[in-house]
Amino acid sequence: MADQDELQRLREDASTRVFIENRLTELFAAEDDALRAALQAARDHGMPEIQISPLQGRLLQVLASACGAKKILEIGALAGYSSIWLARALPTDGRLISLEISEKHAQVARASLERARVADRAEVRVGPAAELLTGLVGDAPFDLIFIDADKTGYPTYLEWALRLARPGSLIVADNCIRGGAPLREPGTSPATPDELALGEYDRRVARDPRLRSIAIPLDEGGMDGFAISVVLPTAATETAP
Ligand SMILES: C[S@@+](CC[C@H](N)C(=O)[O-])C[C@H]1O[C@@H](n2cnc3c(N)ncnc32)[C@H](O)[C@@H]1O
Repeated sequence: MADQDELQRLREDASTRVFIENRLTELFAAEDDALRAALQAARDHGMPEIQISPLQGRLLQVLASACGAKKILEIGALAGYSSIWLARALPTDGRLISLEISEKHAQVARASLERARVADRAEVRVGPAAELLTGLVGDAPFDLIFIDADKTGYPTYLEWALRLARPGSLIVADNCIRGGAPLREPGTSPATPDELALGEYDRRVARDPRLRSIAIPLDEGGMDGFAISVVLPTAATETAP
């Protein structure tokens, strides 16, 4: 009987979580035609549906506004869904540079940005991010850097993000929780290369004295989410919370 009650309570909790996510999305992050078209374009081109959620898109916009972002760097464009959210948080003279390894994804993302009428401030560069990043020193500093590409690249992307940022810049990385696997101590359970790299990213942003960071469960029913870091002024280094 106790098991049945517990099961019932879990079902109710799950349904409440769905209600909350739907209602918050409606209230804070409703998609318009351009965002919906970006999702449809991804489906039409057989691309994986691995874009951020609307609430994550809205959070990126809030963060961009909070740091007065005029220049944003994105690593991983896919069909341009997150690029639209980011570009829309910029002033008309702002600039988004998005790095994407796949020529096909880049073309779809550019069309999405055109449809959303933000192509004037957003460009998609094609190639492996680790190579393209070396060419961005002249465009730095970026006010917000959003990392959402191959997971094994995250530690390298963090190094570059720190080089391309200014004090006060925000560095946001998706998938830093991934069902908890990256949070286990290395060597305590089998882990994929992606999980190991995400774990390394989490530990680095948690411990780097140049950053103040947090990871927040945001999607997949609290099983995944962003790590968010602010680059501290050079004089101020992070001490224990
Ligand atoms: C998770 S998807 C990006 C989703 C997108 N940010 C969104 O939310 O709409 C990851 C993207 O990173 C790209 N990618 C994978 N490895 C990459 C690399 N080494 N350099 C640049 N882009 C890469 C993939 O082709 C894919 O389009």
